[in-house]
Formats: sequence, structure tokens, C-alpha cells
Amino acid sequence: MLRNFDRHDGELYADRVRLTDIAAAVGTPCYVYSRGAIERNFQALSSAFEDYPHLICYSVKANSNIAVLNVLARLGSGFDIVSGGELERVLRAGGDPAKIVFSGVGKTKREIEQALEVGIRCIDVESTAELRRVNALAARAQIKAPVAIRVNPDIDAKTHPYIATGLRETKFGIPMEDAQAAYELAVDMSHIDVHGIAAHIGSQITDTTPYTEALDRLLRLVEDLEDVGIPIENVDIGGGLGVRYHDEQVPDPKRFVSALIAAMRGRGFDLPLIIEPGRSIVGDAGVLLTTVEYVKSTDTKNFAVVDAGMNDLIRPALYNAWQDIVPLVAERDTKRNRYDVVGPVCETADVLGKDRELDVVEGDLLAVCTAGAYGWVLSSNYNSRPRPPEVMVDGEQFYLIRHRETIEELCAAESILPD
Ligand code: LLP
Repeated sequence: MLRNFDRHDGELYADRVRLTDIAAAVGTPCYVYSRGAIERNFQALSSAFEDYPHLICYSVKANSNIAVLNVLARLGSGFDIVSGGELERVLRAGGDPAKIVFSGVGKTKREIEQALEVGIRCIDVESTAELRRVNALAARAQIKAPVAIRVNPDIDAKTHPYIATGLRETKFGIPMEDAQAAYELAVDMSHIDVHGIAAHIGSQITDTTPYTEALDRLLRLVEDLEDVGIPIENVDIGGGLGVRYHDEQVPDPKRFVSALIAAMRGRGFDLPLIIEPGRSIVGDAGVLLTTVEYVKSTDTKNFAVVDAGMNDLIRPALYNAWQDIVPLVAERDTKRNRYDVVGPVCETADVLGKDRELDVVEGDLLAVCTAGAYGWVLSSNYNSRPRPPEVMVDGEQFYLIRHRETIEELCAAESILPD
């Protein structure tokens, strides 16, 4: 079972709060996060570094609720952002601009200006065109822009093709063979300060080898750069550490960090490391609560039709991802059956889990597990369904950290043509 989500007397809890109580108070579908779990995940990663110099920049895209960001900001976390919207959220959550790194292949002029204005730590530049744009905007602001160059190490992270980012054919980063030229261009620019090197090889990675191979390639480039008089101050190896959704064997933080440090020291370096974890901080710290609306059987299948759909949680539909589905109240265990757990959205892909062994009747409450990362953030209004609320449990209290969208809010931004 999930950490921080335990059963007592047959009932599923988030820390000391019974999940059925949250469902009764705010309704379903509803996301629930555990503050304790987020903190424990962050601290486990942080303490794994011991006294090795490092900065953890939580990847905001995984879960950008301001309360989640605030919990992490209070722990001293930095942030990895990919848009002006994420920058604004981090600032509102009390994040320190000096600990923000900004990735992404398509930063607009306005986003770069915003980042320079607030004084973020580093812009991870992904093309020479972007380098020129950053230089021009920094010149206009009469400052030097702190940058790292994101390289594409051409590493197979052995993950789902949609979330593998470190392969040569993806749009991300500057190819290794062009990287030295990009650095030479950057150091000659009047308003660029080159600090570091960055990479991100993918997501839901369950092995340390792709990381150590990527780091090794990065460090070989750092050596070449040193040879031509371009010193590199820190190395950002990106995010991507996986979590256990089903039966994956995921390295624990200690093993992961030790492998990174060993790879660094193996080439004779002790440069500060930056990592950008998203999923491994919030993934197992959240669940999605849903109610069974109908149980429906055909001659080939049983369906549990629930009130959460692919618009609330798209991972199973989009990546064929497995997430455990468990009852909030221990099963009666009398008539377990195989069910496809499906939502109300008019798409065949609207499935939360296929072929799940459950004992359910109408009105039962279920939790879709490990839904803290890439859950709510990927939700949509498809089928004009209001997006679900988010709740954070803190010990024995729970707080609504985002209310359920209303139909009024859903329509508010639209207007009809004049007569
Ligand atoms: N840094 C960069 C530059 C990234 O592109 C990402 C994720 C991260 C850090 C954080 O990766 P994490 O530690 O969370 O794996 N929606 C997909 C995952 C997309 C990941 C995109 N980039 C999913 O639900 O599996």
C-alpha cells in the first residue's frame, strides 16, 4: 500500500484522516494529497546527498497547486519551471527566485523577461536561437543573464516513448556534438553568464544506469570545455526518478543519489549537482477519490462506471499507465469480479483501470492510487466537466486547497457574438 495511505479497521486513511470523511465533505471526484508524504519524499532525497553540494529543484509541472509548492518552499526546495505561469505560482507560494531554474524549448520573450526581472537562478537554454534571444533581452535590461546549456545526451531512458526526452530524435536540448560550439558562442556574448550544464533524459525511470551514463557524457563535455577555458560551475541532471505504480523496482533515493555522486567522483569532479524531481516527490503522496455510479455487465465484460474520467486523470488513457484502484472501505470479499473501471466521458479511451479485481456496488468509494503527480495538472474540462477539487491532509486535519470548479467558472471566459 501507499506510504501515508494506510488502512485502519478496514478503512483507508491519509495520515490520520479517514478518506471517506473527505469524500463526504467535498464530494467526488477529488484529489487528496498528504503533506507528510511530500515532506518525507523531499527529505529522503535531500538527506541522501549528505554533505555533497546540491540543490533540489522540484519540477512544478508534476503538481503545481500553490499549497504543494508552499510546503516544498518551506523545506527550502528550489523549483524547475517551464512557463511564466509556473514562475508566478512559485512566487505566490513563497519560493525563492534564486533557486529557480527555467527549462523548456519554447520560452517566449515575455517569459524570459519575467524570469530576468525576478532574478531566477538560471535559464536552461535549449538552442542557439534561444541563446541569442536571451542575450538580446538581457542587454535591453542591462543585466547579465545566468544560463546553463541543456544538452541532449542521446540516452535511452527505457521509459514510455512519450516521456523519453534524452534521445537524439526528441526536440529537447542541444545535440552533444554541437554543444561545445554553443558554449563558445555563449561565452562570447556580452550579456550571458554561463554557469552550468543541464540535461533531462526522461520520466518514470526505474534504473540508475541511464543517469550515470548521461552524467558521464556530460562530464566528458565539461572536461572538453575546461580544456578550452570554459569552466562549468554545476551540473543539472534533470528529473525523472520513477515511483512504484504496480510492480516496478525503483531505486531508493540513497541508491540513486549515491550513483550520481559516484559517477561525478569517478571522473574526478565534485561539482554541485542540481536535480529536478517531480514525480518522486509528489507521485505517491496523492490519490484520486471516486464513487461508483453504476455497475454494468455485458456478456464479455463487467464495468464499474465511476464519477472520475479521463478529463480528471488522463495517465491511463494517454500512456496506458497502470495505477492501483482500491476500495476506501475494505471489501466485503464475497463476490470479487474483474471490472474495467471506466469514467463517464464519451471516449472508449476513458478507462482508469482495465481488468481490476474488485468487489463493488453502486455508491462504493474507490481510490486511484499514486495520483499525486501528473494528475490534476493534466486535467481538462472535456465534456464540460468541472475540474475536481484538491485537498491536503496535514496530520489529523484536512484543508481544501482548490475548490471544485463551478459551471459558472467553466463558462465565465466565453462570450457570444453581438446581434
Ligand atoms: N525536468 C524537466 C526538464 C522535465 O521535462 C521533467 C518532466 C522533469 C524535470 C520532471 O520529471 P519527473 O521527475 O516528474 O519524472 N506526464 C507524464 C510525465 C511527463 C514528464 C515531463 N517532463 C506522466 O504522467 O507520466
